[in-house]
Amino acid sequence: MLRPRLCIGMSLAPTWLSGEGWRAEDSGIEGLYSSDFALTIARRAEAAHLDFAFRPDASFLPVEVLEQSFGFSSLDPTLMMAALTRETSRIGLVTTISTTFGHPYTAARQMMSLHWLSQGRSGWNVVTALQGNENFGLRDMPASDDRYDRAEEFTRVVQRLWQSFPDEALLVDRASGRYADTDLILPIDHHGNDFSVKGPLNIPRFPGPRPALMQAGGSPRGIDFAAQMADMVFGLSADRTSALTQRKALTDRARAHGRDPAEVRFLPGLSLYLGATRAEARALFMDTHARVTRPQRIERVQAATGLDLADWAPDRPITPADLPRDTPRTGQYARLLQLIDSEAPTLAQLLDCPETLASFHWQVIGTVDDAVAEITDWFRAGAIDGFIAVPGGSWQSFELTLSELVPRLAEAGLFRQAYSADTLMGHLQEDSPGPARAAGRM
Ligand SMILES: Cc1cc2nc3c(=O)[nH]c(=O)nc-3n(C[C@H](O)[C@H](O)[C@H](O)COP(=O)(O)O)c2cc1C
Repeated sequence: MLRPRLCIGMSLAPTWLSGEGWRAEDSGIEGLYSSDFALTIARRAEAAHLDFAFRPDASFLPVEVLEQSFGFSSLDPTLMMAALTRETSRIGLVTTISTTFGHPYTAARQMMSLHWLSQGRSGWNVVTALQGNENFGLRDMPASDDRYDRAEEFTRVVQRLWQSFPDEALLVDRASGRYADTDLILPIDHHGNDFSVKGPLNIPRFPGPRPALMQAGGSPRGIDFAAQMADMVFGLSADRTSALTQRKALTDRARAHGRDPAEVRFLPGLSLYLGATRAEARALFMDTHARVTRPQRIERVQAATGLDLADWAPDRPITPADLPRDTPRTGQYARLLQLIDSEAPTLAQLLDCPETLASFHWQVIGTVDDAVAEITDWFRAGAIDGFIAVPGGSWQSFELTLSELVPRLAEAGLFRQAYSADTLMGHLQEDSPGPARAAGRM
């Protein structure tokens, strides 16, 4: 069931400005809270024919982080996407709305509004969120299962609201004076555990493919939820084995829910520190993480290895024999453990290498060639259907992603050379083998 082409999104969260990245002369950080900032990125991503631009989001602010970086401070993602609608014409625009803190009527209205404004290019990243309860009158964060129960009900209500005012109901008949056929505009009369919503929605359905749905979350319950309703999954896979495992779990759960697994595209985040040489990319990565303290680094190595390193001499090598038996070699610390297996670095070396500081996302620190090779390998292995690019380190790393990496993937036949559709579901289905095409309409 190999897909002919990759699906590629670009994160508008300015990951290339995080760490020390914002301090570079040309970072453009002063524009962070302007629409021009996001627009520049979205236009560049559209010129590279990407499927979508995407804004993750959080509804809380860890203030201490702001001493050193912009942290989670950002414009509201849905308003930001609305500002991009008239300035772009083909690229999908995926916003994030939390089902734990929001209300389905508001979300249905915002998403259908974004869909009309963008003429069919909107997408909704459905998140259950990890923090932020104190901003919404909740003493504690609800348990994961409760959040997913609410997310399932929330999403079903949104989907029903989108259908409650069908576009066919619009008559706009000047001669007869009939604006709409009200027999077709029906309440949904939903009474569930978390919501009571009468409906109908106060915006007609967009006459074309529906908004695309993305899900972010990787627990078995999260995967099951995605397998029921998502067109895309924003995943967290630091290594190929974990990606294969998640892709397989999605396939199994999609089949169990009677869906074609190809309809659920698995797109891990891909952190890209790109340079003209590997040494340059590595230096960019290390410079970006210069202010990560020694205790923070030690904590990371301890978490990965299960070793208490408090009394270790800096020149003491860490060898595979030091690791507790059955330390798993896959997951978020895969690269660090692979380094211990292959090179037995000293503690000092380990504290000063990219593997220790690496993102929990899939990460390539290297040249464009390295990135092309790894993406091709994961894609051909059936571990991914595409990725969401989260370039890191510098504006140049962002530029290399769009001006060199994506064109190289297109030249290799792994990505489109030009858009053939005008809507986000259209872009997604262009690459779907078989029956997934029928699913675009509500
Ligand atoms: C790759 C990834 C991206 C996420 N992005 C967001 C986000 O932008 N906003 C948010 O509130 N939560 C985000 N989450 C949190 C999830 O919505 C979810 O609450 C969390 O992962 C717990 O669910 P899980 O146990 O199924 O992973 C993200 C999770 C993952 C794995």
